[in-house]
Amino acid sequence: RAYTAPIEETFFRCLSVNSKLAIPLSSYYTPNNASSFTSLLDSTAQSLRYVGPKVPKPDIIFTPLGEPHVQAAVICSRRLNVHIRVRSGGHDYEAVSYVSQIETPFIVIDLVRLRGIDVDIPRKTAWVQAGATDGEVYYKIAERSKVHGFPMGVCTTIGIGGHITGGGIGSMMRKFGIAADNVLDARIVDSKGRILNRAAMGEDLFWAIRGGGGGSFGIILAWRIKLVNVPQTVTVFTVSKTLDQDGTKLLLRWQEVAPKLDDNLFLNVAIRPAPTGNGTSRTVTTTYRALFLGSRTHLLKVMEEGFPELGLTSQDCIETSWIESVLYMALFPNTTGLEVLRQVISSIPPGYFKAKADFVRVPIPESGLNGLWKLFLEEESPFMQWTPYGGMMERIFEDATPFPHRRGILFEIFYSTSWQKDEDPSKHMNWIKRLYNYMGPYVSSSPREAYVNYRDLDLGMNRNLKNATDYDLIEASAWGTKYFKRNFYKLLEVKSRVDPDNIFRHEQSIPPLLVKG
Ligand code: FDA
Repeated sequence: RAYTAPIEETFFRCLSVNSKLAIPLSSYYTPNNASSFTSLLDSTAQSLRYVGPKVPKPDIIFTPLGEPHVQAAVICSRRLNVHIRVRSGGHDYEAVSYVSQIETPFIVIDLVRLRGIDVDIPRKTAWVQAGATDGEVYYKIAERSKVHGFPMGVCTTIGIGGHITGGGIGSMMRKFGIAADNVLDARIVDSKGRILNRAAMGEDLFWAIRGGGGGSFGIILAWRIKLVNVPQTVTVFTVSKTLDQDGTKLLLRWQEVAPKLDDNLFLNVAIRPAPTGNGTSRTVTTTYRALFLGSRTHLLKVMEEGFPELGLTSQDCIETSWIESVLYMALFPNTTGLEVLRQVISSIPPGYFKAKADFVRVPIPESGLNGLWKLFLEEESPFMQWTPYGGMMERIFEDATPFPHRRGILFEIFYSTSWQKDEDPSKHMNWIKRLYNYMGPYVSSSPREAYVNYRDLDLGMNRNLKNATDYDLIEASAWGTKYFKRNFYKLLEVKSRVDPDNIFRHEQSIPPLLVKG
């Protein structure tokens, strides 16, 4: 019988032949070296449901050290007909960047070593490589200027490769829009292994990669982002109210006012269970946390005019710098130094969880909230985050980027539940499905909108990656229109043009339209 070399040998040889930059063995990990392979694979994984012996593992993890390595990886994926996944920060909720549930063997291209950041204050821009985290970007900007920032995610360990290509929402979105709205250029390796910038890729592909979700159109090498002006002093505060403290009434009011408040104010609500006063049972606590791009005095005026019911006082407010507010909004303890951003230490450790999201266009009535509280308290560790829209989000057209959740959205709800390692997850997975069903009448419909960066495979997934049929396309439109509304159809067209062979594919990648032979 002829000798068939194992994939780790053939892929390495192919990379070496096709890369202008030598491939050091230290960039190449296989299960033969089990400890370094597993520690790298698990190093950025946030969703521990997708870690452990029962989960399908890649045959190789390749960590490119330069752009030619990424090109070679794509060329070799095509030549050897081997499936690749691309990972930047590993924060995907369903782990599609490093776990293939539906196609093996597969190789992970992990951009963890491509994390250069080059800030240009005079031009108000920065080039950022895809493997950098948003915290590193915030840190580098603040190192150069106290009056510039960038509007993206709240958690500081998200990889900007996946984050920006799925949209990127955060505490400055009401003032400046989302991260994808503030991208000027990008470098991408396309399905033929070419490096393209904005001019070379054309406006349609540049549109698709700013919100169309990761892992569908190519491998983003770097983004050129547009810095925004932030004041030298910003103000933050946190105020909590339980249901006994009129929590429901306040939240009813918040739904009306939060999307209409001054664009400089971002006031979100975290909802958790809490013990009641006598400690015998549980109630719901609503925690209002805010970033205001301005002074305490100005904020107090804005709150007095727009949301006096919260009863904000001067003592509640903390004046600080924008970069310190990043730590505050990410829930780091107030003694934490800025170094955590550079050291990529998260305030939210990886865990066993399931998350879902909804968008709300009409305020949820009191009866709806009362039912929600009842269901919420049935679960051990439930969590919700209500994120206000409005402001700049209202003024950007739905088709300006693939991220369509703009005009008329009052707020977004993020739901999650978490559990311990040895617990049976099915109880918790069932609970969150019940919660999602319960919320159906109160949230957006036709389609029920969802956020691609809060990936949820319950919405559906590609099953047949190599030989998709019309039926598979119809299935994909079920989740595709939830994430992208009508923009999904343009994403299909762009995909068909730039990657008709579906080199970049995963459980919820945009499928190419079928070319009838
Ligand atoms: P990861 O590497 O897992 O990739 C995610 C997707 O993008 C995959 O499909 C992957 O293949 C693809 N991809 C990765 N790198 C790519 C590249 N270079 N080119 C092309 N495709 C690439 N979101 C938000 O908007 N605001 C927030 O505040 C938060 N907060 C938050 C907290 C925590 C704890 C988690 C776990 C997640 C969030 N998110 C979030 C969601 C986050 O934006 C989302 O998971 C991003 O896709 C993460 O990007 P990573 O590069 O880290 O993920």
